[in-house]
Amino acid sequence: MTPTSATVSFTLNGEPQTFFTTPNEKLLDLLRREGYRGAKFGCGQGTCGACTVLLDGRAVYACLLFSMQAEGREVRTIESVGTLDKPSEFQQELIDGGAVQCGYCIPGMVMSATALMEAEDHYNDEIVREYMDGNLCRCTGYEKIWAALRRVLDRREAAPSASR
Ligand code: FES
Ligand code: FES
Repeated sequence: MTPTSATVSFTLNGEPQTFFTTPNEKLLDLLRREGYRGAKFGCGQGTCGACTVLLDGRAVYACLLFSMQAEGREVRTIESVGTLDKPSEFQQELIDGGAVQCGYCIPGMVMSATALMEAEDHYNDEIVREYMDGNLCRCTGYEKIWAALRRVLDRREAAPSASR
């Protein structure tokens, strides 16, 4: 049976938006169809984190959510965090630290790190692991990614108001 078309309204990267969708469309598919292609399709099963976006400030797997579950909520994608011309602090550290290989995992990593930085004032390895362990990287062995993140977090702890 053909799924019935519907609309869904939510705030996307700070702008109220309404999209056509279907009851079985995943949020990731809607976002990518609408041009927000930073979120990637990896496993489609909630295990790799390539599709990570923020839903009301929490990192979620957009491949697992139906688009209609975003109704009335706030969705943020990597496009709201940084661009090629104006990378975020963490993105710049990833570049400077040579932490990016194929890059497929990086938008998801950045979104999970964004959730961490917005929710927590103090950081330790356990907290970093809690936020970041849902994001897999097939290329790098993680060390340079986590080192880049720790540099950002260390600066934030040293000068909280300057880096927020
Ligand atoms: S594509 Fe969503 S968790 Fe892998
Ligand atoms: S840089 Fe290739 S998957 Fe992480």
